[in-house]
Amino acid sequence: MDSMEINKGVAAVLVAGIAFFLTGTVGMNLVVEHRLEKPAIVTPAAPGAEAAAAPAKPAPLPPIAPLLAKADVATGEASVKKLCSSCHSFNEGGKAIVGPNLYNVVGGPHAHMEGFNYSAGMKAKTGPWTFDELNEWLHQPSAYVPGTRMAFAGIKNDQERADVIDYLHTLSHSPVPLPTP
Ligand code: HEC
Repeated sequence: MDSMEINKGVAAVLVAGIAFFLTGTVGMNLVVEHRLEKPAIVTPAAPGAEAAAAPAKPAPLPPIAPLLAKADVATGEASVKKLCSSCHSFNEGGKAIVGPNLYNVVGGPHAHMEGFNYSAGMKAKTGPWTFDELNEWLHQPSAYVPGTRMAFAGIKNDQERADVIDYLHTLSHSPVPLPTP
């Protein structure tokens, strides 16, 4: 191999190197990097992710009127005997037990029994006991009257609650009419 051949080889390597360097530099200047303002791909949030992020809000109760329309007084009375009668009497003029007597409570004022030692929260409630309010109260007493003295978890079954309210509303000389669905 003569020196001419070696020179050609060296030149080839140099040219290749220069070409490599130049294309790199030119390329870098041609392509300008932009940051996207919005992500190009939006992955849908996993189901329940939003619910987990938002503070847990209790689901609203179904309207009481349609449930009352198909409620059964006798079933309600049986539930009341089982769930409530250790603390409440239901007859006219009945005595307070742990809780107040409940004759005439539907449509009557909150804290309706004269002389009963109600919680401050219950005494602070104004207006009559409507069907809707009884529905909320009996679903979860501690949520309806924070600090209530009624130590009862609530009736979670919507129809059973309506049956109980239907029975309560019969405990009067002139029962308040049931709401129309
Ligand atoms: C462990 C005893 C207990 C049980 C069980 C109980 N209650 Fe009560 N109830 C109370 C007490 C005590 C109060 C008074 C609450 C207050 O002052 O915050 C009350 C208040 C009430 C009131 C409001 C009365 C008013 O004058 O405003 C209603 C209505 C009522 N209860 C219905 C029921 C029904 C219906 C049941 C059964 C499903 C039931 N309670 C089960 C103890 C009880």
